Amino acid sequence: MTTSWWIGGVEIPTRIVLAPMAGVSVQAFRRQGRRFGAGLVCSEMVSACGLSYGNERTLGYLRIARDEHPLAVQIFGSQPELLAEAAQMVVDAGADIVDINFGCPVRKVTKTGAGASALEDHDLACRLAGAVVEAVDVPVTVKMRRGVRNGSRTALDLGPKLEAIGVAALTLHPRSAQQMYTGFADHSLTAELVSRVAVPVMASGDIVDHSVATRVLADTGAAAVMIGRGAQGRPWARWLIYLSPLMHLSLLFFGAIFIAFELYRKYAGLGNKVRFVVVVLVNLGVIAVTRAQERGYSLLSVG
Ligand SMILES: Cc1cc2nc3c(=O)[nH]c(=O)nc-3n(C[C@H](O)[C@H](O)[C@H](O)COP(=O)(O)O)c2cc1C
Repeated sequence: MTTSWWIGGVEIPTRIVLAPMAGVSVQAFRRQGRRFGAGLVCSEMVSACGLSYGNERTLGYLRIARDEHPLAVQIFGSQPELLAEAAQMVVDAGADIVDINFGCPVRKVTKTGAGASALEDHDLACRLAGAVVEAVDVPVTVKMRRGVRNGSRTALDLGPKLEAIGVAALTLHPRSAQQMYTGFADHSLTAELVSRVAVPVMASGDIVDHSVATRVLADTGAAAVMIGRGAQGRPWARWLIYLSPLMHLSLLFFGAIFIAFELYRKYAGLGNKVRFVVVVLVNLGVIAVTRAQERGYSLLSVG
């Protein structure tokens, strides 16, 4: 999980990638992601049309901080020239990688021919990706679902075509667009995609802890795991994936001992040993609550 790998000429320091999530993968989330062990972070999807019209809100998505690199900015669109133009703007803004969205299942996006609907039209998908590869010097990646309809495997055929036109890495979320987020991500398709292409593949879908992450990496041969909902509202979750549970627990334990020791030094002089014991107990309580929440118990919420 802690070895580095490459997308084109960009070194990615860990095998954990923070997923692009509209409305979630804002700059603060991405910066936290890098701090908590993600080797690569992705922006929310940015509309090529919005960039081309100079829409103020869309341009706001291109604000990039110094401490988030390496960063992939994701774009979507259905017109090759506009997508290429958007890619150039994204690179000018400082993105290390341009990612193209061929996975969004939302009707507002698919009805324009963008997002997951490009999976059904390989000719358009290749023209879109080819235009972007031509337009920029940084690596171009593509994120796909398995297909539009349930049971579709079209991403497995599209992957090698995209590789042939110069796409530097692929991400597969092996659910259909029709599935939205129901059912489960079938990572046997990820393994199949890995066997069909030479470029690195990122595995996305239902990866929520260290054991799932290591299993998916081992079973599929993917270069990295991409974490989405598992990291929402739980920035430390990426540490849970990055570090083994035992290491995580040890960190919490030694952290608590350190804090207790510091407080002991401060208060022991006052002879207030009771306060010291209370602080230790509170620390242990916080660890217990954190661990319980990680395991799905909601001790703090009502109802
Ligand atoms: C709220 C939300 C927004 C998302 N937005 C995007 C997006 O902008 N671009 C994209 O490629 N995928 C998007 N996704 C899909 C995720 O990147 C990811 O592939 C999917 O959630 C499966 O991974 P997970 O089970 O780890 O969440 C989004 C998912 C969620 C839940």
